[in-house]
Amino acid sequence: MAEGGPCVPARYIFTALVSIGLAIIYGLKVNLSVAIVVMINSTELALMKLTEDDHHGSHHGSNESMSVNPEFACPAPDTGSNVTVVAQDGPFAWPEPTQGLVLGAYFWGYILTQIPGGRVAEMFSAKWVIWGSVLVNVIFTILTPVAANISYIAVLVVRFIEGLGAGVSLPAIHVMLTKWALPQERNMISSLAYAGMALGTVISLPFSGILAAAFGWESVFYVQGGLAMVWCVLWLVFVYDSPQDHPRIHPAELELFESCMAGGGGGHGHSNLPVPWKALLKSGPFWAILIAHSCNNFGWYMLLVELPTYMKHILRFNISENALLSAVPYLSLWIFSVIWSNRLDWAKSKGWISTTTVRKLSTAVGSLLPALCFVGVSFAGCDRQAAVALMTLGTMFIAGMYCGFLSNHIDIAPNYAGTLMALTNTAATIPGFIVPVFVGEMTHGNQSLGQWQIIFFTTSAVLLVELVMYTFLASGEEQPWNKAYTGGADGKNGAHLSPEEEKLNKTSRA
Ligand SMILES: *[C@@H]1O[C@H](CO)[C@@H](O)[C@H](O)[C@H]1NC(C)=O
Repeated sequence: MAEGGPCVPARYIFTALVSIGLAIIYGLKVNLSVAIVVMINSTELALMKLTEDDHHGSHHGSNESMSVNPEFACPAPDTGSNVTVVAQDGPFAWPEPTQGLVLGAYFWGYILTQIPGGRVAEMFSAKWVIWGSVLVNVIFTILTPVAANISYIAVLVVRFIEGLGAGVSLPAIHVMLTKWALPQERNMISSLAYAGMALGTVISLPFSGILAAAFGWESVFYVQGGLAMVWCVLWLVFVYDSPQDHPRIHPAELELFESCMAGGGGGHGHSNLPVPWKALLKSGPFWAILIAHSCNNFGWYMLLVELPTYMKHILRFNISENALLSAVPYLSLWIFSVIWSNRLDWAKSKGWISTTTVRKLSTAVGSLLPALCFVGVSFAGCDRQAAVALMTLGTMFIAGMYCGFLSNHIDIAPNYAGTLMALTNTAATIPGFIVPVFVGEMTHGNQSLGQWQIIFFTTSAVLLVELVMYTFLASGEEQPWNKAYTGGADGKNGAHLSPEEEKLNKTSRA
């Protein structure tokens, strides 16, 4: 492979900065869930609850752990785990429903800006959209302590705006990948970029805990926000919308892009084309991605949020108190996705497998294997080691999504990669609302192994729906409607260009 000269090739700098950008966005997203534990005055909340119960004379406690029926939980472990860390009190007496609102506000913003963000990135500049996305998150993260001192409503607004900012990131990154990921490296580059999401979570959770313990809860926001500002400068200096826009790219690397990306959705121009909505909504491969993305996120939230809850309540093993054990699943995910994507690119370069096969195979790994892990967790019962091992394996294999459906938008319609990602990611945000409600309903007042088994089997079923639907409907090939408004610019549809269009096409390539 041609090297980009003496320096690091521009596309690798781009990949690293995208990955770090996503890590920042996801890190700043999860830090509040750590910080809020020490922001809350639990003493005062307990007092408030006591007087409330006195008034109503009832004890329908909203504290979930109180509803664990000891008969249905596992016996307490014999070593060490009885040491419960009592969190220090913070200044705010926000009741649990208020905390829930504050933590949930992010999602409402996140879901709103997907589609406009994708369109703006396609039509104008994905670089600036991503930069703005991170900058908004950085600024409002730094403002969080100030907002908290005003009122919880101010924090709610801050988090909503952070969500608005973060919502545009994934569609815009998808637009940039159509320009910057060479076909022969596409799986590797997308995987590394997207794995930033997991990396941000794995770094931010322990880092926030350490900061809060050492320097107080405000430092979580100031330090992380401050560090992320460095990225905002690097991004502006080193990243450009396309290789052709990059003033310092090595000629050899540019040549590589010019020769490999011809007709493949790369190129200089921005896509001002209207979206062929009708053809898109009738497209099987599009629905395959949408279904896979939604189902997979259901499994992802289960792994990320609910499995640790299950281990805490039923297995009486709080994994979040063990930084190493919490980090291992994400590190495995990261390592697995690097190796897996690299092998897929290699197998594809040998001509052994088609893009369609890569997507289907990888989605199968990301759905079937985690589904089996969930079944395994049900049968593992009180075996804590088995549960931790299965959770690690499930998190690792779900990374199959990066080379599976999550990279598929670029294949089927490079002109609309941002819009497609926006649509499927909007749908895929819905499980984020459904999963906690579903688990809450199932376990309300009845935290038992049996109820959790139903939850895990349901999750496996959802992942199997993903596997079946995607295997039948998905495609790795460009769909005809990608060229609906360009008259089949690359001759795939046999349509001809007007002379003006031909000329335009040539100058934009030159
Ligand atoms: C928490 O609330 C209790 C009871 O109202 C109060 O005595 C204590 O000072 C509060 N702690 C902080 C850190 O505000």
